[in-house]
Amino acid sequence: MNTTGKLIQLSPKHLDFHQILDLDREQFPRPWSSKDWIDLNWDHHLLYGWCLNGQTVGFALFSLVTDDDVAHLLKICLRSDLRGQGISQQFWDVCLLKIRERGAKSIYLEVESHNHKAIGFYKKLNFETLRVVKSYYSDGTDAITMQITT
Ligand SMILES: CC(C)(COP(=O)(O)OP(=O)(O)OC[C@H]1O[C@@H](n2cnc3c(N)ncnc32)[C@H](O)[C@@H]1OP(=O)(O)O)[C@@H](O)C(=O)NCCC(=O)NCCS
Repeated sequence: MNTTGKLIQLSPKHLDFHQILDLDREQFPRPWSSKDWIDLNWDHHLLYGWCLNGQTVGFALFSLVTDDDVAHLLKICLRSDLRGQGISQQFWDVCLLKIRERGAKSIYLEVESHNHKAIGFYKKLNFETLRVVKSYYSDGTDAITMQITT
């Protein structure tokens, strides 16, 4: 299979947007509703999809307010059957270039404290752990906050 992907920037008006909602539902324990997605302030959010063989197989959602130099990574995922092959790293490298171009000097995120795979992934990308936030998520799960200088 061709594993060379292409970055696309998406918003609710794109035809492929429904693929993002499908991925969100499949890959996250607390997916957002269509309304949650559509109601985002799209002036302040950047949604990048990773397109492989004509399909959107992953996405990353950042919040970045104009004139701010800190981006917030809200979600990142890759379709489960494609993980562990370096595809996420390729996707991330292109996202990082785009986020830098937008003027962000650092990126921070929260991740569930028991999501060891994602934490390992972020550490591999050189994110540093900041702190544990107790009961951050609606179901009481703790979060770990992490940050990277771009
Ligand atoms: C997070 C995600 C995008 C990472 O993509 P991936 O393809 O699984 O990442 P990789 O398998 O390439 O792993 C990257 C690194 O993470 C680390 N890692 C992987 N599995 C791990 C585990 N079980 N424990 C600890 N570290 C692990 C390793 O350092 C690995 O590098 P290596 O391949 O050199 O060993 C993907 O797992 C995903 O979509 N998860 C579901 C959604 C999610 O939880 N998103 C994050 C919260 S927003």
